[in-house]
Amino acid sequence: MTDTNKATNQQWGGRFSEPVDAFVARFTASVEFDQRMAAQDIQGSVAHAKMLASVGVLTDAERDQIIQGLAEIKEEIEKGEFNWSVELEDVHMNIEARLTQKIGITGKKLHTGRSRNDQVATDIRLYMRDEVDFLLEELTRLQQGILSLAEKEADTIMPGFTHLQTAQPVTFGHHLMAWNEMVQRDYERLLDCRKRINILPLGAAALAGTTYPIDRNMTAELLGFERPTYNSLDSVSDRDFAIEFTSTAAIIMMHMSRWAEEMVLWVSAQFNFIYLPDRFCTGSSIMPQKKNPDVPELVRGKTGRVYGHLMSLLTLMKSQCLAYNKDNQEDKEPLFDTVDTLKGSLRSFADMIPAIESRKDHMYEAARRGFSTATDLADYLVGQGVAFRDAHEIVGKAVGFGVEQGRDLSEMTLEELQGFGGMIKADVFDVLTLEGSVAARDHIGGTAPAQVRAAVARAQAEIAKR
Ligand code: ARG
Repeated sequence: MTDTNKATNQQWGGRFSEPVDAFVARFTASVEFDQRMAAQDIQGSVAHAKMLASVGVLTDAERDQIIQGLAEIKEEIEKGEFNWSVELEDVHMNIEARLTQKIGITGKKLHTGRSRNDQVATDIRLYMRDEVDFLLEELTRLQQGILSLAEKEADTIMPGFTHLQTAQPVTFGHHLMAWNEMVQRDYERLLDCRKRINILPLGAAALAGTTYPIDRNMTAELLGFERPTYNSLDSVSDRDFAIEFTSTAAIIMMHMSRWAEEMVLWVSAQFNFIYLPDRFCTGSSIMPQKKNPDVPELVRGKTGRVYGHLMSLLTLMKSQCLAYNKDNQEDKEPLFDTVDTLKGSLRSFADMIPAIESRKDHMYEAARRGFSTATDLADYLVGQGVAFRDAHEIVGKAVGFGVEQGRDLSEMTLEELQGFGGMIKADVFDVLTLEGSVAARDHIGGTAPAQVRAAVARAQAEIAKR
């Protein structure tokens, strides 16, 4: 990156009587971060040049020269040979200046009928569309990982919790399918967000449109946008799509932070429900015995920065009058960091989740402790004609006795149980088993192994439609 005290910008310096202050040039420049959108900037310029030629603003020869020049610049950038310059402020002017350097006066015609205001809005949308398409695939990969583990663990019994206290037995597959529901919603939200990204602002020019006979439908079609935007003032100032994306990302991170929290608990010696392969963990420099679940912890931690970016973008746009304001240049860093953070977090989870191994015996033992079939006993009593509230009372007393004795309901004798409710018969032990308990919840959305398998099949059919 060149950064000298040399003269102000050639692209807009005409009305200035002194060069811009060197610090101000650096302070206002965005090229260090917006060069990330170089490919999209070139893509937009190629479409713009084609459109200008088709409406007679450029000759076909000029169009071809521009397209050729831009193709060469693209290669320079890809090879890392492009000389980015802070004096040229941003990605747009760096590329345009280089084009003029290469092809002369024709390069100066590319900016006809557009402004950096609609250009940057177009570039971000193109960039976001590319990233969203990648993220949608990554979400699908994550979802497939969850489904494959859920299928394997359809019969695995673990305690289900409320208030982090043992509540009722569930299957591990069912728990994982809850995660799947979250990702499914995330996928739908992101896809919906893409609709509002995929609209073309180019043609709004600075704010009011342009006097050239531009064909915005053509440019939209060339760039794969759904349609052109309908109001030039809104086109250059709208950043809703960036806020929507970041809020979608924040929700995805929130989901991942919840799974992270569960994984961190489950790998602990106290729970010992799952095993995470060593490649997703790290050790301690002082405690030789340690194996830490760093990947989930880090994803949990990174959730915070994405929430921060959402707040930055909302605040950036708050009270901003129409149309373009330099404030808007501040949208990029939060947006880019959101993309990077989300990509890394999704990738790590998509790799790690299918590699989780369950500690079935520990899960089972934990479900057996904690009176997790107490509700089943109450339901059994209801089946014998007892009103639910009375059944609740009877079972409560039985649990109190069990706590005193250090014994689970299934470990009591029939006589002991009958001491709490005379209507209890020997078949009670069928419902007091963990297997009986989960198998009985056999309806759509229930924890029965058969329902878990049905849910996996349903989700797989959903994914196959994508
Ligand atoms: N670098 C600017 C941005 O990121 C491009 C648009 C600047 N337009 C202007 N008139 N200063 O938003």
